[in-house]
Amino acid sequence: MPEKSKNKNNKNIYILGIESSCDDTAAAVLKNGQIISNKVANQAIHEQYGGVVPELASRAHQQNIVPVVDLALKEAGIDKQDLSAIAFTEGPGLLGSLLVGASFAKSLSLALGIPLIGVHHMKAHVLAHFIEENTMKLPQFPFLALTISGGHTQIVQVNNYFDFNILGETLDDAVGEAFDKSAKIMGLPYPGGPLIDKYAQEGNPKAFKFTKPKVAGLNFSFSGLKTAILYFLQKQTKEHPDFIQENLADLSASIQYTIVNILMDKLKMAVAQTGIKRIAIAGGVSANSGIRKALLEAQQTEGWEVFIPKFEYTTDNAAMIAIVGYLKFLDKRFNDLSITPKARMTLD
Ligand code: KG4
Ligand code: ZN
Repeated sequence: MPEKSKNKNNKNIYILGIESSCDDTAAAVLKNGQIISNKVANQAIHEQYGGVVPELASRAHQQNIVPVVDLALKEAGIDKQDLSAIAFTEGPGLLGSLLVGASFAKSLSLALGIPLIGVHHMKAHVLAHFIEENTMKLPQFPFLALTISGGHTQIVQVNNYFDFNILGETLDDAVGEAFDKSAKIMGLPYPGGPLIDKYAQEGNPKAFKFTKPKVAGLNFSFSGLKTAILYFLQKQTKEHPDFIQENLADLSASIQYTIVNILMDKLKMAVAQTGIKRIAIAGGVSANSGIRKALLEAQQTEGWEVFIPKFEYTTDNAAMIAIVGYLKFLDKRFNDLSITPKARMTLD
């Protein structure tokens, strides 16, 4: 028998957010729009394989989900009976990983007799900007979101909480993959994005020149860059076997500079096309110091209003799932138990 919800007369709205789309198992509790706990269990197991292994990820989610949710509730100082609704990542992501979060969320919502809310992972990255303590000011609609992660690279016009319009996207690799694959070519462990960022701090961004891809309109392509880096390094290491080690900082800085320029060029085109100068970045790659610096510069040079999330809300987290859960809860956008996770889901 489902347990009866005890929060009927409780004015506080508590949302539990659960995220399990890739290799992080995360849970967060939001009280009346404020995050009161935000927990994540990372999976170190994938480092040795140079990328996320889907079977190992779903197994680790199964081990982590109960302790992570327990920890999030404990830190929030509430009991599961206090919850008003459960929000979980519906997709896109690794199916086996999504299934763990979805099954857990469904069982808990059924047991507690409270609403279930499916959340789009990339919309959640964008709407993380509406976590109140996240940014000093909230973006006004419409704004442009640059969603940059290990699986996505898009420029999206956000008209309101629930109306997203993709203006351009990658035709091949995501920008996070461009960072990770370049890092892998240089012998760095997965995920290499943060390491390239770290080594780039000491390097000269103009030391090596990698040509930018020519892609029409607001779409992106990153697979050519990876191949260019591979051929360049194969040629150099043939003559100087220690080339990579000796030039790691300059190589990292040059790769980061090229990627940031590609993103900034397209953003400028999107602003010219839409006339919208409010820019928000979202997704794991928005932790990158190069893109943050370029955007802050554009505030001065281009007159943009830039929104950069707090570091803990850039990579995968459950606080962003909980905030979307809250927005949907207020709008009574609930799902029934027939909802299934989806590996692919479009944003608009
Ligand atoms: O959003 P996210 O945590 O997971 C996905 O949904 O993909 O993004 C992960 C991606 C990885 O490719 C990782 O290398 C990249 O974000 N990343 C970075 C940085 N921090 C994370 N890339 C460049 N510089 C960083 N500082
Ligand atoms: Zn993500």
